[in-house]
Amino acid sequence: MQAAREWLAKARSVAVLTGAGISAESGIPTFRGGGGLWKQFRAEDLATPQAFARDPVTVWEWYDWRRCLIARAQPNPAHLALAELENRTPRFSLITQNVDGLHDRAGSRRILKVHGDIWRLRCAACGKEWDDYTCPLPQLPPPCSCGGMARPGVVWFGEALPADVWTAAGQAAASCEVFLVIGTSALVYPAAGLVTVAEGAGARVIEINLERTPYSGQVDCSLQGKAGELLPELIKS
Ligand code: OAD
Repeated sequence: MQAAREWLAKARSVAVLTGAGISAESGIPTFRGGGGLWKQFRAEDLATPQAFARDPVTVWEWYDWRRCLIARAQPNPAHLALAELENRTPRFSLITQNVDGLHDRAGSRRILKVHGDIWRLRCAACGKEWDDYTCPLPQLPPPCSCGGMARPGVVWFGEALPADVWTAAGQAAASCEVFLVIGTSALVYPAAGLVTVAEGAGARVIEINLERTPYSGQVDCSLQGKAGELLPELIKS
């Protein structure tokens, strides 16, 4: 931990990749592992373009339930620590796979949402996008002013990541001195591949996770425990 703390304290450029584990202590379920959403629900039925085409109401009911769960949650000390780290680091990028918006609420500014945002709606017919924080939504699927129906502004299985965000994420991973990987099983590509990009470009890679991941054996420092406890310790200079 001490060496990793010093790398972070000295770094002029830091990139971070977060996953569902950073929001677990805020009470938001992760996807994999005990209590994970994909243990209870089938991704094919809820998080694919085919599922939405087949049954948009069921898909929206699930997203509306998650939106309401997230609306009641608060950012935890790990989200807050990243906002603080951004304030003291000259070049900082927060790449998140999370759609929950807790990094925004914690005060982070340069956030690259590679899997989209659950608070953003996008018309499936005309492509118009807007933010809507209403919980629960009064009508499912939510209507667009063009008469079409909106879909959640998230990336589903089988869909491409938003190109501009993904390019910026790759650049951040390839040009940082320290790369932090927090609370992700690192199983879902292409996001997980950013760890290899950072490593290949010579960054020090620090991982925080409750458990070992496919990357634990190859990173420069692997810290096992809760992000809400370890991250505030790690950023103490
Ligand atoms: P996962 O649910 O796959 O992994 C969560 C990780 O967080 C696991 O490795 C846990 O060990 C770890 N974890 C849990 N609680 C923690 C805590 N308090 N502190 C630190 N670590 C903790 O979530 P992701 O890796 O984010 O994609 O999943 C990646 C993508 O798969 C998601 O963005 C989503 C999902 O399907 C899409 O929706 C496109």
